[in-house]
Amino acid sequence: MGQPSPARTQGEWWRAAVIYQVYVRSFADGDGDGTGDLAGVRARLPYLAELGVDALWFNPWYLSPMADGGYDVADYRAIDPAFGTLAEAEKLIAEARELGIRTLVDIVPNHVSDQHPWFQAALAGGPERELFHFRPGRGAHGELPPNDWPSQFAGSAEPVWTRMPDGDWYLHLFTPEQPDLNWAHPAVRQEHEDVLRFWFDRGVAGVRIDSAALLAKDPDLPDFVEGRDPHPYVDRDELHDIYRSWRAVADAYDGIFVGEVWLPDTERFARYLRPDELHTAFNFSFLSCPWDAGRLRTSIDETLAEHAPVGAPATWVLCNHDVTRTVTRYGRTDTGFDFTTKAFGTPTDLSLGTRRARAAALLSLALPGSVYLYQGEELGLPEVELPPGSIQDPMHFRSGGTDPGRDGCRVPLPWAAEAPHAGFGGEPWLPQPADWPAYAADRQADDPDSMLGLYREALRIRRTEPGFGDGPLGWLPAPDGVLAFARPDGLRCVVNLSGIPAELPEHSRLLLTSGPLDAEGRLPQDTAAWLRG
Ligand code: NOJ
Repeated sequence: MGQPSPARTQGEWWRAAVIYQVYVRSFADGDGDGTGDLAGVRARLPYLAELGVDALWFNPWYLSPMADGGYDVADYRAIDPAFGTLAEAEKLIAEARELGIRTLVDIVPNHVSDQHPWFQAALAGGPERELFHFRPGRGAHGELPPNDWPSQFAGSAEPVWTRMPDGDWYLHLFTPEQPDLNWAHPAVRQEHEDVLRFWFDRGVAGVRIDSAALLAKDPDLPDFVEGRDPHPYVDRDELHDIYRSWRAVADAYDGIFVGEVWLPDTERFARYLRPDELHTAFNFSFLSCPWDAGRLRTSIDETLAEHAPVGAPATWVLCNHDVTRTVTRYGRTDTGFDFTTKAFGTPTDLSLGTRRARAAALLSLALPGSVYLYQGEELGLPEVELPPGSIQDPMHFRSGGTDPGRDGCRVPLPWAAEAPHAGFGGEPWLPQPADWPAYAADRQADDPDSMLGLYREALRIRRTEPGFGDGPLGWLPAPDGVLAFARPDGLRCVVNLSGIPAELPEHSRLLLTSGPLDAEGRLPQDTAAWLRG
């Protein structure tokens, strides 16, 4: 069973952790109402311990009208009743900790729900208006939005301003149900530091920061001009002062941060990871990197180079609740290099995608730093093409129905092949496809060749081999299309992306492969191996 190694239970555990992302609504339904909940998670803690993860990151579980899957928070100190109670969350945090699993919560500082008491008070005309961005419109009668900023939802042409009956407009980079907070106001800072303490006091080990680079806005809210520096709302310098204050709060608890920081400029990205700011940030480079040895190597080198000067560990992400699932992305046959494209009816070869996803898992888990694993990735779940009538994601609606949105990676998990709804619980809030039982955890549990078997074994080896995780990486000579690198303690990883079977190094012991070797003992295309020596 997944006993954590001493290195993972002490000191800077987060530098090499494997962190499992729980999208509560779709993980496991304990009360049979079709929505995943904390009871469901608690019942599955033994599964997570056996999988061997070091920590759980929970997507927002707070009171929310769920206009954006809980990223519209009405009360940061309450659990949504659909998920359970605060007492249950406290029990869950404690029970996980007993199994050696830490908990991270998700804080959404850029915006709140339009049902949040602050926004409700603002609508009633109270001084709380100052906590948001209310502005008169442009045009002769204020009928035009105050500026031209684009929506943060890709593919959406919807404005980021909504007009109130009194004529003023308010800013929302996401949906109208998610008004942006005014981070220049001291009460906004104070409240968030209190919320951090609230969760650290309940035993959480860390916090994921949603939209971490968007909080600060140019007070003049000027029009967006391509290339203008500083940007009116992305990556503004004021943010660093905010995160230095947050760091002081976290340090008092030994808590850690992982920032959701999407920034193309690597030097600017690394600023968030200075020793007195965030401990880590998501590295999303693999999400848009094609399955190509040269491109992956560049992505790895750039990632390590950008983290090195600030001494922060890299993170590796193959999937999350916002992107197309890994096996589908890697199996897409006609989208060229654009692996994040979401499209209805894109041709996909799932067996190719699965082979590559298995190899990508061993690649990521062998790299220096920590790894994020999105629920269902360990089951090899594909993206689901939902019938448009069942889609709930606002991204779909804000694209005018052209973008399928993100529900395809949020379909409730299959636990038991023979049980109703594949063992999820009640009738799931998103329909499961007919072949879902084939992916069920119970069907994979005893099969070492399954995706679940691969992840369990990889995490077991990673736990017992301190050479994986944080530390140096050295590239080894390899034929074209083959990635080969050495880690401390004689550990090696070889990934073959070429069409020619690759010879494995002589005198080395095979620890694990993502698929069978060929009859000559060579590593076939789209296969990875871990070795020692
Ligand atoms: C990023 C989250 O991952 C996504 O799911 C959400 O829609 C936006 N931030 C807005 O909070």
